[in-house]
Amino acid sequence: MERVLKAAELAPSAGDLKARKVFFIKAASKRKELSEAAFGQEFVAQAPFVLIFCADLEAIASYGDRGKDLYCVQDATIAATYSMLKASELGLGTCWVGAFDEAKVKDACGLKEGLRPIAMLTLGYEA
Ligand SMILES: Cc1cc2nc3c(=O)[nH]c(=O)nc-3n(C[C@H](O)[C@H](O)[C@H](O)COP(=O)(O)O)c2cc1C
Repeated sequence: MERVLKAAELAPSAGDLKARKVFFIKAASKRKELSEAAFGQEFVAQAPFVLIFCADLEAIASYGDRGKDLYCVQDATIAATYSMLKASELGLGTCWVGAFDEAKVKDACGLKEGLRPIAMLTLGYEA
């Protein structure tokens, strides 16, 4: 997991502002909440780990609307992609999850205002 998270850290970002935050979710109760937020996609609760990639709207504020609407979303997305590729290199299975209720994910993870969940990645060994 350290290497998967490090890969996200090394991803490029607009102006090198790293306008993304990554949350690592392990607790079964939280994975269950995330599964419900993802419209009942059960594998989200079943996977041992879930990563949440968030756009950081405060960190990108100096870039105005384009920063908030686009750059921080791209920062989160490319970080998720780097993590996905690293996980695959390490022999882990992943699934990108985009279908979720943002407000419920924010509640489940206690995300502060200004953090917008963009993508989840489930991680585990493939059966
Ligand atoms: C933006 C995006 C959102 C996605 N959302 C979901 C999702 O909510 N649930 C899911 O099971 N797969 C989701 N996927 C995974 C795609 O369904 C999957 O990548 C696609 O079917 C191709 O399969 P492959 O990646 O095995 O080639 C998403 C992928 C992307 C890129």
